Amino acid sequence: MSVSALIVAIDGPAASGKSTVAKRIAKELGIVFVSSGGMYRAFTWLTLEKGISPADTDAVIALLGETEFKGGEEEGLGTFAVNGRFLTREELSAADVNSNVSVIATIPEVRARLVAEQRAYAEKTGLVMEGRDIGSVVFPDTPYKFYIDASPEVREQRRRAEGITDSIAARDKTDSSRKASPLVVPEDAIVVDSSELSVEEVVERVIAEIGVRSGRPS
Ligand code: CDP
Repeated sequence: MSVSALIVAIDGPAASGKSTVAKRIAKELGIVFVSSGGMYRAFTWLTLEKGISPADTDAVIALLGETEFKGGEEEGLGTFAVNGRFLTREELSAADVNSNVSVIATIPEVRARLVAEQRAYAEKTGLVMEGRDIGSVVFPDTPYKFYIDASPEVREQRRRAEGITDSIAARDKTDSSRKASPLVVPEDAIVVDSSELSVEEVVERVIAEIGVRSGRPS
């Protein structure tokens, strides 16, 4: 008999600190961390590598049909290969991937395929997954939903401090206004504004709320 595993959904806009927080929470809970954005980034990288324009939806969908994805796990971190290739952190956060990923992520066929891959992870293990539609679309039934926010100024500053060229405002706009699974605050999510909080404080707050929602005092 399969026992349903713990699934923690963490959503929020770019550079809200959600991936740092999600990674820490996964470690504390002893479950796997998965960045769903990494999957959209990997497929965007492949599209650009093949010389396909992200605006050419038909060509992107044709490429999707020829692409093999493989999700795995290594030391608590979710891994994801496209056509057998694991991408480096640098490749996934390259400037041209940053500026094109939100366009690729508006394509419903791409979303449907990657959502299926995301759900497949949870068949094997408990996990913390972060993204834009994890609580609203990918795992709507989990009670553990969080939305990590921060002011646009703080988010721009965080990206600059990482030395990464990123079009945060443009991505925010595309992510929130797209038709297919836009970035929303899931109805039953706990919203944490991280603008004035340390990573430690956000992690503590989330872990405490997981305890409350599971009926266990933490
Ligand atoms: O780390 P950051 O928040 O900047 O971005 P990310 O999580 O790596 O996601 C990159 C982009 O992928 C987002 O701006 C979205 O356009 C898209 N994405 C999505 O549409 N749905 C998800 N569940 C995750 C990411």
